Amino acid sequence: MNSYIGIDLGTSSVKILLVGADGTILNSVTRDYPISYPQSGWSEQNPEDWASETIKGLCQLLEGQDKHSVKGISFGGQMHGLVMLDKDDKVIRPAILWNDGRTQAQSDRLNDSVGKRILSKYTANISFAGFTAPKILWVEENEPENFAKIEKIMLPKDYLAYVLSGVHATDYSDASGMLLLDVQNKRWSDEMVELCHVKREWLPALYESYEVIGKIKPELAKEIGIDENVLICAGAGDNAAAAVGTGTIKDGSCNISLGTSGTVFISRDSFSVDENNSLHSFCHANGKHHLMGCILSAASCNKWWMENILESDDYTGEQKGLFELLHENEVYFLPYLMGERSPHNDAGARGAFVGMRPYTTRKHMLLAIMEGVAFALRDCIEVAKAGGVKIERSLICGGGARNEIWRTVVANVLGIEIQRPQTEEGPSYGGAILAMVGCGEYKTLDEATDKLIKVKDSILPNEALVEMYNKKYNVFRQIYPALKDIYSQI
Ligand code: XUL
Repeated sequence: MNSYIGIDLGTSSVKILLVGADGTILNSVTRDYPISYPQSGWSEQNPEDWASETIKGLCQLLEGQDKHSVKGISFGGQMHGLVMLDKDDKVIRPAILWNDGRTQAQSDRLNDSVGKRILSKYTANISFAGFTAPKILWVEENEPENFAKIEKIMLPKDYLAYVLSGVHATDYSDASGMLLLDVQNKRWSDEMVELCHVKREWLPALYESYEVIGKIKPELAKEIGIDENVLICAGAGDNAAAAVGTGTIKDGSCNISLGTSGTVFISRDSFSVDENNSLHSFCHANGKHHLMGCILSAASCNKWWMENILESDDYTGEQKGLFELLHENEVYFLPYLMGERSPHNDAGARGAFVGMRPYTTRKHMLLAIMEGVAFALRDCIEVAKAGGVKIERSLICGGGARNEIWRTVVANVLGIEIQRPQTEEGPSYGGAILAMVGCGEYKTLDEATDKLIKVKDSILPNEALVEMYNKKYNVFRQIYPALKDIYSQI
């Protein structure tokens, strides 16, 4: 049986899957790398760490496996990050990541001076601090010596593809988050390229996510032990790849991701934008479109609570007894640890607990974190609803989705059925499926996802809980506006 490799270049680790052509996961490897926060609200990673951990991970993945069965490799990757290479293909500075808020001023300037209406006309989106274009402007203004060295810019997973294949390419879904792509017409926007002082030759070639961009470099094929004719397919931004991995391909279908970030991803057959551009309007990995709301901190809030505050790794133990608290929690949590993207677009927003009493326990606070993340996702869903999008059910993936109590909270806060696919590895599984289609194992993504993806279980909303959470949500949505001015003074 042929096999395919899906690589998810995440924010805390790279997850690599070896998948048989029948969808069976044959092996998986996760390798961590550091993230640095050089200043408040900044976040960076070293692209060379991504590459070296991925290559080590590929060798580890294939130990004891039939290496010659591997036919193709593809990716899902953290979006928006800016990787810059010089004339010798050396990384110029650490990558500035999707959740880095240093570019709020550049982003506000794009929205205010170019204007949101014009930006939306050029790119289908407005600027958010995490997007790539304001990062380029930031480097030009703050690190002119680095800006002067740029010969190539690329997104995180495209750097991996470049290391593996030597081809400078990207795909439409990931390129959509650069604010340099004319999303509706699927071409670089001349106007944005000029406005951001980007040279055309710095930009990668554009591909559909499932298209072949090249072959593995012979020296790497040798090191990893795979055949030299293994094909590399473009891959997708992690959310579009996760949508492929959960089978969120059909018009109107929805996937929620509870990873480091949290996203609500709505697949659309046709292009659309919402009135205020509160949701991102991006290309999908299937050649069509999607709308997406992104909250910057989701499962990362739980990780922060456990590691930084409780200094515990007993995730299961901490979650015991939470079901019993569902009806009585009075604590609220704003999950804005890295500022917030959708819908507030405020890099200065911060996390907050509200509503504690003398009898409040760490369990109430943990439940409040899960509820706060679910309320923040609901903020995105409300925008979609206001734009006429109907969401009756959603798939769910990401680390947080393994947690039954969190899935229950999400189902009841959103008032929709939450389905879990049999294979939970959203973006890496999606990457492997993209490689299958690129290599001709399946003719289309529809054919592949229909065959390979099944629902494992589902949680239906409960009337009493939905009613309770509707009331709580009405309180939640008033907390950020009340704190906004205070945040700006911290
Ligand atoms: C999406 C976004 C995040 C990252 C996380 O717009 O910024 O979901 O892709 O990896």
